[in-house]
Amino acid sequence: MSLIAWDEKFSVGVAAVDHEHRELIGLVNDAHDRLMRPGEKDAVVNFLGEIYARISAHFALEEKLMRVEHYAHYGEHKADHERLLDEIRDIMDDYEDDRNFDENRFAQRLRAWFTEHFRTHDAQLHGHLG
Ligand SMILES: [Fe+2]
Repeated sequence: MSLIAWDEKFSVGVAAVDHEHRELIGLVNDAHDRLMRPGEKDAVVNFLGEIYARISAHFALEEKLMRVEHYAHYGEHKADHERLLDEIRDIMDDYEDDRNFDENRFAQRLRAWFTEHFRTHDAQLHGHLG
């Protein structure tokens, strides 16, 4: 089962950007599928590490675009990216400490962040570029 399903609430109103975000969610779900495979040593650590890498690669591309465009809201937009990456790092650290990982809670937090970020920062950015 997918960790995160595409939700119309995620839409920024630009088809190409929605497509990229769908792909990002697909990558998160692929990592999740691998977590579900038996026999993976330290599967949760690998899973969170992969999600972190996928999401930060997506953010890096978007931040590069903002710099190229001299986008006025670059600072606050990047800060919101950092907020999610910090949260994922905290979840990784907590797991290292107590080996406790609540997958549903993690999915819920990602969904909440995606909904808010896509709807606000990304919609504003891509409305500006479009
Ligand atoms: Fe963004």
